[in-house]
Order: sequence, then C-alpha cells, then structure tokens
Amino acid sequence: MAFLDWSDSLSVHYRLIDADHKKLVELINGLHALGESGATHSAIESSVKQLTDFLKAHFMHEETLMRKTAYPKVIPHKIEHDRLMKQLEDFGERFNAEQVGLSQDTVMFLRTWLCDHILEVDTPLGQWLAKLEQPTDNAPKT
Ligand SMILES: [Fe+2]
Repeated sequence: MAFLDWSDSLSVHYRLIDADHKKLVELINGLHALGESGATHSAIESSVKQLTDFLKAHFMHEETLMRKTAYPKVIPHKIEHDRLMKQLEDFGERFNAEQVGLSQDTVMFLRTWLCDHILEVDTPLGQWLAKLEQPTDNAPKT
C-alpha cells in the first residue's frame, strides 16, 4: 500500500484534471519514499522542485479552464492554490538553505491538502466542466 493510494473516490470525473491529480499522488508518494529512506539532500531538493513545478502547471491548467468557462468560484479556488504554492515555495527555499529538513508532518500536510482540496474544491469544478460538455436537449439537431 502506497502512502497515498489513488481511488475512484478522488476522481472529479473530468479526465484531464484526474490525470494531473494522479501524477500529483505519484509525486507525493515519491517524496514520502525519499523521506523514509533517508535520501540525500539533493535528491529531496529535486523531488520538491519537481512537485512544485508540476503543481504550478496544474494550478494554471485548472485556472485557465475556470476562466474560459466563466466558473463562478474561480477567485476562492485560486486563493487556495496561491496559498499552497506560497507555503510550498517557502518550504523549498528553507529546505534548500538547509534551515529545515523534510519532516513526516510536511508530507502528511501535502497528502491531506491534496485530498481535501480534491474533495471539497476540485470536485465541484469537475462537475461544472462535465456539465458544460454534455449536449443539451435543445441543441440543434444535425
Ligand atoms: Fe484546484
């Protein structure tokens, strides 16, 4: 059993977002495994960077979808993204400067954040996007 297992309960039922989330699960598991195995500072540093870069791209991806579809909750959603990004970047800087190590609490925090965010914030977005893609009854017949 992995540190965080992907399951259908984490699906937002929108394929592109689910694919990103699966990759995030993989990256968090990778970071956890490095922490557990007492990996070198530079191995952890590059894993944190990979996670940060991927999250940045993923958040941008979701925010673009929200803007393009005039999603009503774009602002509170983006605030959550910005808050986590700031925390992760601050951690990365302090870790790189060897002011802090990678603790179990940090990895647990990331896991909890991702699961809570998916269930409470991304799921309504997935429902919104899926609804927009469904043909409506009064769509012109071809
Ligand atoms: Fe999100």
